[in-house]
Formats: sequence, C-alpha cells, structure tokens
Amino acid sequence: MTTPTLPATSLRPRAYTGPARAAVLAQRRQHVHPSIFHYYREPLLLVEGQMQYVWDEQGRRYLDGLGGIVTVSVGHCHPHVMAAGHRQSEVLQHATTIYLHPNLGAFAGQLAARLPGELKVCYFVNSGSEATDLALLMARVYTGNYDVIALRNAYHGGNASGMTVTAHSSWKFNVPHSFGVHHAIAPYPYRGPYGYDDAEAGRKYADDVKSLIDYATPGRVAAFIAESIQGVGGFVEFPPHYLQHVYAHVRAAGGVCIADEVQTGFGRLGTDFWGFETQGVVPDIVTMAKGIGNGYPLAAVVTTPQIAAALTGKIHFNTFGGNPVAMAIGSAVLEVIEREKLQANSLQMGRRIKAGLEKLQSKHPEIGDVRGRGLLLGVEIVKDRRTKAPGQAECTAVHEAAREMGLLLGKGGLWGQTIRLAPPMCINAADADFIVEVFDAAFSRL
Ligand SMILES: Cc1ncc(COP(=O)(O)O)c(C=O)c1O
Repeated sequence: MTTPTLPATSLRPRAYTGPARAAVLAQRRQHVHPSIFHYYREPLLLVEGQMQYVWDEQGRRYLDGLGGIVTVSVGHCHPHVMAAGHRQSEVLQHATTIYLHPNLGAFAGQLAARLPGELKVCYFVNSGSEATDLALLMARVYTGNYDVIALRNAYHGGNASGMTVTAHSSWKFNVPHSFGVHHAIAPYPYRGPYGYDDAEAGRKYADDVKSLIDYATPGRVAAFIAESIQGVGGFVEFPPHYLQHVYAHVRAAGGVCIADEVQTGFGRLGTDFWGFETQGVVPDIVTMAKGIGNGYPLAAVVTTPQIAAALTGKIHFNTFGGNPVAMAIGSAVLEVIEREKLQANSLQMGRRIKAGLEKLQSKHPEIGDVRGRGLLLGVEIVKDRRTKAPGQAECTAVHEAAREMGLLLGKGGLWGQTIRLAPPMCINAADADFIVEVFDAAFSRL
C-alpha cells in the first residue's frame, strides 16, 4: 500500500536556527525532573506551529492530530488570537484583579453567555488542575460536606486535589491524600459490565453512584465530579442518560454536580458546545481549561450565584487568574470559534473521520472500538476482539507509524491501549481523509 501524503498547504515555516535535537534532549535530561515523559522512541522536537500543522527542527511538517493534548482548539498561533494577545501585552501585560480592567468582565460575560441556566459566575485560574481544586473547594464550602464521588478511569489534574479525584494508577503517587474520595464504576460501555447493547446501561452504571452514597457517604456527599467524556482514560463516552440519573442521586443526597469540560468544551464535540449537553444535564459547577486559551495558560470555573455566594465570606485571590492578556485571548478564541464556525466544522470533519475509522474496523481485527464524537475520537486496540486483551504494544506501533507518516496522535487508557485523536478544530476534508489513510496504513503494518 502506498504511503499517505500530507495535504498540500501554502503555510511555510521559518528557518530554524536554535540548538540541535540532541542538545535539547541532553539539557532536558540534565536539568528537568526525571518523571517528565515524552512520546516516541526518538523524541520529537517541535519548533513551529501554524493552524493544524507543526514543524520539527528539520522543517518537516506534521498534522497535529492531538492538538497539544486537546488544547489547541482554533489552530496553532491563530492570527486573530495572537494579535489580541500581542495588542494587550504591549499596553498592559499584567495587573491583578485588585484593579479594574475591562477585559475581565468582558470575557466573563462572553463565557457566561455560552452557558445554560444559572451558570453565570466566573472564576479565572491558570490550569485545569487549579480549576479542579477550586471546584472541589466550592462544593465543600457550599454543602458543608467533605466527601466527593469521582469515577474510575478519570483524570482531573496533577496537583494534590486533582490527584485525589483522578483514578489512574500511573498518574497517582502513592501518597494517601484521597481521604473522603470514592470512585464509582466507570461507565465504559466497551469494557464495563453493561455494554453498548444494553439500553438501560446509563441507569445501571448510575446505580453504582447511588450505592456509594448509601453505603460509603450517607448524608456527607459534597460533590460528584466527572469529565463529560473521559479524556486520559481513552475518550470513553458514557451511555445515554447516565449523568441524568447520577445528578438526580447526588442532588437528592445534598451534593452538587461538577462537570469537567477541560477536554470536551468549546465546540470540539460538534453536536454541542459543552460535553454535559450531550447527556441532557446542567451542572452546578463547570471547570474548563486547555481549549479555552488555545494554548495560553487560562482556565476557569463557572458556577451559580448561590454557590458563589457561599465563597464570598473569604477572599478568593489568584495573582494571574483573570489577567488582561489571558482575558483578551479567551475572548479572541470565542470569536474565532463563532466566526469560523468551528463547532460545525468539528461535527462535519468528525463524522467523516469516524465513518472512515468504522470502515477500517472490518479490515483490521486489532480495532476493538471506535468511539467519541466530533473531533474527540478514540480507537481502542485489542490483541483479540473476543477477549479484549489490551493491545498496548500494537497501540505504540500504530502511534509510531503514524508519526513516521506525518500524523501526531495521542495515547490513552489504563494500559495505553487507545489512540486519541483530537486535532485543532480547523482541519479540512483533505486532512480528515489523510488521517483515515494513515490509520489504515499504520494498522496494515502491524
Ligand atoms: C479532563 C482534565 N481535567 C483536568 C486536567 C488538568 O489540567 P492541567 O494540566 O491544565 O492542570 C486535565 C489535563 O489533562 C484534563 O484532561
């Protein structure tokens, strides 16, 4: 089979004049902490990005199929976003929220306008982990309870609070700081006890949350937190109505419901702007990061006036949260999503790719499951479709082969058995077809 070729583009990188890859790697090994990891047997050095493409130091172009881990929403160095950031940096680069600045209220208003119901009060922080931390604090202060129910196979951040609600052995350090956190069964139709063919799966998985409330934390639940589609866990999409049932149980027990939209928000899913909308629920608290800033360190927590009121007795302060540059960038990202119709593009391109991947399932027995929506698609790889033994080595081989062909992909799942595809939302039909061709060629090489 012929090797797929990257679609043509008029975008050109600058000449790279920085240090060689070996020097960059050596410096990192010498001075950067040892738990840092990199993708690929031969670590990739990236030196430039424009829209859906990135370039290495040799000037080789790649289609960024992971968007810097689901972060580059509207395109690398999107001109409108960069211009907004530059303009603001030149005038007033830093001022904390002890002073007034028009950008803060303006962006908060734009963001609140995108959210349903009473979700109208915005807090700005700098990362998804900080957003998780703040959301848990809010839930605990508001309810007066401490316990939290999270899901197995979840990822909510690398700080102490993020790790308590994360349930992924490789992301947890063995420090006993998960006191008061209970992990319910992951509503994972491909691997869990209730499969795609079970029309009642949503209710049945939600029963586990109810059972945790009854047995483990009666009258003490502060919050339930879940990603709307599990990201690091391998883009696991919940069965229909799951969150509706869970939210009813949690609210009946006096808890609040937190939706982690760090990977799923901002139109990437195509059908909806937020992941929770695909489940027909309105959360009490929403956390967002990554795509909100298209790569700029910007994150937010949005909640209701009632919950926010519970926090007003104390000072909430974050030096960089809500700074004028971050706010200018956040507004510009929302403008681009709207103006360039990127949610509709995600829907169209996502459908095109998913249809192609589903066709490949009949050709390549290693493809156990194709799932997700819009431009958040997972391909779970197995050694054997009957036993579903995780295809970790096969996943690594596909990941490496795709890189050789010019497509950068992500990996996920407990065993690193799932390929994650989440390119910038600006990809076109030629990129979409290239992605499917690369998958076909990479699986053919196994
Ligand atoms: C769903 C989810 N929540 C929270 C986080 C933490 O975000 P950050 O790495 O910005 O702290 C991540 C990061 O990957 C994430 O995927």
